[in-house]
Amino acid sequence: KDYRVAILGATGAVGTELLHLLEYRNFPIAQLKLLASPRSAGKEMTFKGEKFVVEPVKDGAFDNVDLVLASAGGSTSKEWAPKAVEAGATVIDNSSAFRMNEDVPLVVPEVNPQALELHKGIIANPNCTTILMAVAVYPLHKVKPVKRIVVATYQSASGAGARAMEEVKTQSQEILAGKEPVTEIFPYPLAFNLFPHNSPLNNFGYCEEEMKMVNETRKIFDDRALRVNATCIRVPVLRAHSEAINLEFYTPVKPDEAKDILKLAPGIKIVEDWQTNYFPMPIEASGRDEVLIGRIRQDISHQCGLDLWLCGDQIRKGAALNAVQIAELLVEKNLMQPVRAQLTT
Ligand code: A2P
Repeated sequence: KDYRVAILGATGAVGTELLHLLEYRNFPIAQLKLLASPRSAGKEMTFKGEKFVVEPVKDGAFDNVDLVLASAGGSTSKEWAPKAVEAGATVIDNSSAFRMNEDVPLVVPEVNPQALELHKGIIANPNCTTILMAVAVYPLHKVKPVKRIVVATYQSASGAGARAMEEVKTQSQEILAGKEPVTEIFPYPLAFNLFPHNSPLNNFGYCEEEMKMVNETRKIFDDRALRVNATCIRVPVLRAHSEAINLEFYTPVKPDEAKDILKLAPGIKIVEDWQTNYFPMPIEASGRDEVLIGRIRQDISHQCGLDLWLCGDQIRKGAALNAVQIAELLVEKNLMQPVRAQLTT
């Protein structure tokens, strides 16, 4: 069977990658619809050599659609995802709008594919830094339970969208030309700079991005006892995120043991050459499916501690690839049927 697919936010950084991956991975498509805001109406995009015209999302846009891949921001998803489900579609949503909703599975296919079986029309794609960390930590957690994760992120511009990536490039040119860099998307210049993630702060001083890593990881691992502490930083890298992760296990885990587990785990490539200080780098993770992991070492401050370093393509495994893998699982498990359940919001 082939499916009638719509991409909501097709013109964005993730939307463009979704289109590319659906073609590259040969997803079974009977009919394709590209939706965005009225700003992009009429724009042409190519899929398998054929031109498709972008349409503005409006009432009726999801009639006769089986699957919606949404990446157009939280408010757009809040408005349109329930309507798409009402019209009979299954929605894989890349925004944070429904992630913590009890009726919505939050899925990383390498970690909790079974969660899909309970979906009621909407499936949430986790936050990008959370996905990358989950792919790396879960295989270890399954064998030797993790008690606490302390993570610092080095997040690329792509997480803030296609226009944010352009802003960093333009700012770099402006600075090199001796001009004042112009900021529109980010609150501060990102070129030749970095700053803590600018999402809203809570009363404890943690930003929303950091709390996503805490709450989403616990939901994906289905482990409410897991402690997570994150510091999220935006860096002037275009499309791959990096993370320095410290793990505290209940019992000691040797670096070689961890490496052996990770070598066999799905979606991971070990990148380590201790002789030349060669470890994962965002430019090498860009455009790749795997999460690159290296610098796996004993925490010298704690006998049950282990450190690792990872880089992963934010647009790919951090967003579009994870969503397409979920879509492939829905096909494989025959779970893409119209479900008209009431979602609690
Ligand atoms: P548009 O290109 O018409 O603005 P990114 O994450 O790269 O910024 O991309 C966001 C995507 O979401 C774009 O495709 C954008 O379309 C789309 N989008 C943003 N706001 C809306 C909206 N209100 N309705 C539909 N699509 C939207």
